[in-house]
Order: sequence, then C-alpha cells, then structure tokens
Amino acid sequence: MNNTRFSTSDQQLLEDIMMLRRDVRGNRFVNRELSDCDVDKILNAASMAPSVGFSQPWEFVVIREPSIKRAIADNFEQENADASALFSDEKREKYAQLKLEGILETPVNIAVFYTPSKQPVLGQTSMLDMGEYSVVCAVQNMWLMARAMNIGIGWVSILDAEKVKKTLNAPQHNKLVAYLCVGHVDEFLTKPELETLDWKQRKPINSLVFRDSY
Ligand SMILES: Cc1cc2nc3c(=O)[nH]c(=O)nc-3n(C[C@H](O)[C@H](O)[C@H](O)COP(=O)(O)O)c2cc1C
Repeated sequence: MNNTRFSTSDQQLLEDIMMLRRDVRGNRFVNRELSDCDVDKILNAASMAPSVGFSQPWEFVVIREPSIKRAIADNFEQENADASALFSDEKREKYAQLKLEGILETPVNIAVFYTPSKQPVLGQTSMLDMGEYSVVCAVQNMWLMARAMNIGIGWVSILDAEKVKKTLNAPQHNKLVAYLCVGHVDEFLTKPELETLDWKQRKPINSLVFRDSY
C-alpha cells in the first residue's frame, strides 16, 4: 500500500506535460546524442503501462545503426509516395509539403512490437485487440516520459510493416505497433503542427461526449 496523495500543482504538472507533448518530426530535432540512460528511462516508462491481464505484450528494438535507419527511411519514402495519391487535389499539394518522420534526423529509433500470447490472456478472450491496445498504452507512457525529460518523439506509421519486420529480423508472429524517432529538441511547439498548418483543428470535447446513449 502507498498513501501518496497528489496535490493540485501535481495535477497541473501532469496536465502541462500532456498539453505540451508533441509529435516531433525531422525538421525539429537537434543534432545531439541521446544517452543509453535516457533511452532506458523511456523504456522503463513503457514497462509501467497498464496491459490486459498484465500480459505486458510488448517488445522493443532500439535502433542506432545508420544502415538500418536508411532501410526504414527508404520504406517510408515508398509508402509516402503512394499515400499522397489518396488525398484530394487541394490536400495533396499540402501533403507533399509536410515532413512526416524523423528517421534519419534522430540518434535513436525504437520499433515497438506486439507479441501475442500462445496461452489465453485474462481479459483478452472476447475483444481480441486488447493486447495491441495495451502496447499503445506503453507508447503513450514513453511519449509523456520523453516530454517530461524534454526529449522529442515522433511516431511514424507510413511504413510497410512487413518490410520493417524483415529489416529488423522480427519473429513472424510479432506485430509492429509503432515506429518511434527519438531525439533532443531545443523547443517544442505549443500546438500540434498539423493544427498550425491548417490540416486539422482540435475537436471540442463537448462535441464528442454523449450522455447515457448516442
Ligand atoms: C497512431 C499514430 C500514428 C501517427 N503516425 C504519424 C506519422 O506517420 N507521421 C507523422 O508525422 N505523425 C504521425 N503521428 C502524429 C500525429 O500526426 C500527431 O499526434 C497529431 O498531429 C497531433 O499532434 P501532437 O501529437 O503534436 O499533439 C501519429 C500519431 C499517432 C497517435
């Protein structure tokens, strides 16, 4: 048991960290090494995340090797070229100007995998996606801890996941959940970059909450 009570200033601090957490892309990272100690602290935050049946169904590949990053960056380039074609003419032009990853600009990339259990998992018997959702909880812990350490993280999802698995020699049954670019930044934007660039606006919370039923 532990009777730690948090104060309103603690709550404010947590809110600040959540509010000022940003997705950081290659145009914002600075050229500075990231220590193993910092990486370990971020991974330790991941391990504190909730998980269905306490299954902890996550594994992490910490990548520093430039040739591996290069292969992932090539994977991104191919997928991103195909992605732009999916948007309307007006958005396509804007899309082409967006920087959507920081694979080569960061000293460390972390691939986060879901490792399915061969045994039944408590709580994952009806809703089978719960294991993957648990891994997303771990990613959010990493993102928030990094922000508290003034370290930036960018999530890259414009990737062929099977090719990433091949590049990283991942076991066949593992599923790629997140590919993260991690590095130092001098400054964090106060708003999501996609909001500032007029791609999307934040939805007001009261337009998203329903009482008792839809
Ligand atoms: C599941 C997931 C996948 C994402 N994939 C990408 C991506 O491929 N490229 C990118 O630039 N940002 C990506 N993002 C970051 C979002 O664009 C970003 O979270 C959003 O614009 C809000 O900005 P903020 O995180 O700075 O608040 C992703 C975020 C999530 C949660």
